[in-house]
Amino acid sequence: MAAAHIDMQARTAAWSGRFNEAMDERLLGYNASIPFDYRLALHDIRASIAHARMLAAQAIIPQPDFAVIEQGLLGIAQDIRDGTFQWSRALEDVHFNIERRLTERIGDAGKRLHTARSRNDQVATSMRLYLREAIAGIRQRIRHLQRAFVEQASQHADLLMPGFTHLQVAQPVTFGHHLMAYFEMLERDDGRFGDCATRLNQLPLGSAALAGTSFPIDREAVAHELGFDGVTRNSMDSVSDRDFVLEFLAAAAVLMIHLSRLSEELILWSSSAFGFVALPDRFCTGSSIMPQKKNPDIPELARAKAGRMLGLLTGAMAMMKAQPLAYNKDNQETQEAMFDAEQVLVTTLEVFTGLVAGLQPNASRMLAAADAGYATATDLADLLVRRSIPFRDAHEVVARVVRQAEAQGCPLAGLGEEVIATLMAQTLGIELQRARSILGDDLQRVLSVRGSAESRSHTGGTAPEAVRREVARARQLLNAAPGL
Ligand code: ARG
Repeated sequence: MAAAHIDMQARTAAWSGRFNEAMDERLLGYNASIPFDYRLALHDIRASIAHARMLAAQAIIPQPDFAVIEQGLLGIAQDIRDGTFQWSRALEDVHFNIERRLTERIGDAGKRLHTARSRNDQVATSMRLYLREAIAGIRQRIRHLQRAFVEQASQHADLLMPGFTHLQVAQPVTFGHHLMAYFEMLERDDGRFGDCATRLNQLPLGSAALAGTSFPIDREAVAHELGFDGVTRNSMDSVSDRDFVLEFLAAAAVLMIHLSRLSEELILWSSSAFGFVALPDRFCTGSSIMPQKKNPDIPELARAKAGRMLGLLTGAMAMMKAQPLAYNKDNQETQEAMFDAEQVLVTTLEVFTGLVAGLQPNASRMLAAADAGYATATDLADLLVRRSIPFRDAHEVVARVVRQAEAQGCPLAGLGEEVIATLMAQTLGIELQRARSILGDDLQRVLSVRGSAESRSHTGGTAPEAVRREVARARQLLNAAPGL
């Protein structure tokens, strides 16, 4: 929808009959939600048409009025899509703006639309309709980003790199395995948004201001027309509940935390100290003073936007926590968090899909880093354990081997079998000959970064073979996902 054109001139408010003086100029801006809630307009109109159809079917309004209301609302929807609708701040919110315009267009029939409802159940309905659609768009973008991870992982299932704990080199992993970790996180994110969309899909309309209505309404018919799974069961809860916004923001915060962790890695990996990946030029910026710089602005921004998202969640929770039942105007403020979060998610997911697809790993830098960090020490310990040395003893042997390698400034594989056998014999108090035979003849393979990664081929392991299996599974999953 085009950005809102807002008429800032004060006009009479919809409830002005009750008041003796016009609204203070300062309150106009403070009270009005039209600068942000105009986004609900098309959903509001859809809900109004369903409501009016039901009112006519129940003989609450004359049948001919429904036809006129529907035509009027469809005309307004067209003006909104064309960007010609004039929003008025004095009319406070999207609901009053549309209702006033409807009456201007079609006369008295327009004044019948608001029978048996209140803005309280109206806004709750529009927000749910809006968020349901927003979530569908976000889930689709999550799928696109997952696809980018899967394609990169498929291409780099064999690529070796150090895996880290405490940001210290820990054990060799494959780049494909590392990337697929993000596929898994996004899979859970998708599930969280799905849960939120399922839970919010109950119609609150018919709750009216808070107590329901004395008219013989048919809520099920409205729910059916609007694609809700059912109707809410308590009118007071229905008009005051904004759990669906909180759940959405919580899912959004977790997703942004994931992308922030990825950002942190990309920032480190693309630094000259690591040199593991090059970010595509089209997603980087330069420095105005240092010609050599290529800056990772996009992951930095995402890391900051994750912080903003946590703020939106915390802010919205704080808005809700002290509200007595039922509706309070505090609720209006949760809309801004909802719209802002949606915009952050959509843009971040889209940018990251391109960024991830364009990552260029540097195989030799990754391998060198894995080799330099004694990343296969655990593999040596595991070898000794497989040959009946108790794990604690094996751990001690390997600790000495690492110390020796450190002293000589070489990788474990560079020490040579004789040195390792000697250290082992000394530590365990056994014959050198026996130490040699325990080590066997596959020591070099065990100590190699590739041998280490390849040996972890179980489900969930880092071996290229295991990564390829997960890639195939992920592709199946994505191909079965709706809308892709
Ligand atoms: N713009 C309002 C909101 O977003 C609509 C409901 C107003 N209800 C009221 N009782 N003032 O919450």
